[in-house]
Amino acid sequence: MDFKVELKKYQNIVEQELEKYLRKQKCPEEMLNQSMEYSLMAGGKRLRPILVLTTYSLFKGNYDICMPYAVAIEMVHNFSLIHDDLPGIDNDDFRHGKPTNHKQFNESTAILAGDGLLNNAYIVISEDLNKNVSSTKLKVFEEFSKAVDRMIVGEYVDTEFEGKEISNEYLEYIHINKTGALLKLCIRMGAILAEADEEELNKLSRYADKIGLAFQIKDDILSEEGDEKITGKPVGNDKEKGKCTYISKYGLDGAKEKLDEITQEAVDIIETYGEKGEFLKELALYIKNRKK
Ligand code: IPE
Ligand code: IPE
Ligand code: MG
Ligand code: MG
Repeated sequence: MDFKVELKKYQNIVEQELEKYLRKQKCPEEMLNQSMEYSLMAGGKRLRPILVLTTYSLFKGNYDICMPYAVAIEMVHNFSLIHDDLPGIDNDDFRHGKPTNHKQFNESTAILAGDGLLNNAYIVISEDLNKNVSSTKLKVFEEFSKAVDRMIVGEYVDTEFEGKEISNEYLEYIHINKTGALLKLCIRMGAILAEADEEELNKLSRYADKIGLAFQIKDDILSEEGDEKITGKPVGNDKEKGKCTYISKYGLDGAKEKLDEITQEAVDIIETYGEKGEFLKELALYIKNRKK
């Protein structure tokens, strides 16, 4: 398997699916729709929807059933990024190599575009449930809502403790919630929709915990020593704002050591799936080595 080719293939599938939900018509809220589209289609890596589809594929063939949930999670993710960049939170001016939503439009539009994407995620799911409900999908819906709640909690604690000293436990709490919760949700949604049993679900949740933490540690490392031309977002901003990160706590080397360690643990878990788990194994390595 060529990981890069597979990744691109999945990214294209997700992009095409997202396109279906864009609102292009002339209407009084045209600018709001453009602002939602601006962020949703700005060139994200699409890792969350891809995790839903590829985890499902560990167990079953046709992942169409996952699509509304894959779309919904990418909408929520982009809501979280728009609000994360706002002056009241991280106050960042560019993302994906472009002005952030509030810079491109204005603050009120950005706040409402975020709200719109969050609520549209629930519209997509409710339409799917209305078409064909099942207890499996209702379980997914419950997990979805609760994971979004955790992400918001994580963002709150991250913001609240800016510029302050925090304990290791609080740092972990921020990471587990603000980033880990949605990534874990994606893996669990894929597995639950594929009717995986409890044992599989637990195993994949452990893999998810590792890559969730790895993902944020790498994000913090890129904020320290990444290349803005590649990451498309500001470098040095965490330090400037006194953000509580793995680097502020353990230093750059400490963060890299932790990243190596948990990536290996994730790989060890997913290797038990053999060839079927190849993509998710490569994904764990990609998270560690990525430049953006
Ligand atoms: C960035 O997430 C925000 C974090 C949770 C660390 P991604 O790096 O997955 O964002 P995009 O969508 O690919 O830009
Ligand atoms: C973003 O965290 C996490 C969420 C939006 C939930 P960060 O603030 O660390 O991510 P970037 O670096 O702005 O993407
Ligand atoms: Mg932030
Ligand atoms: Mg930020």
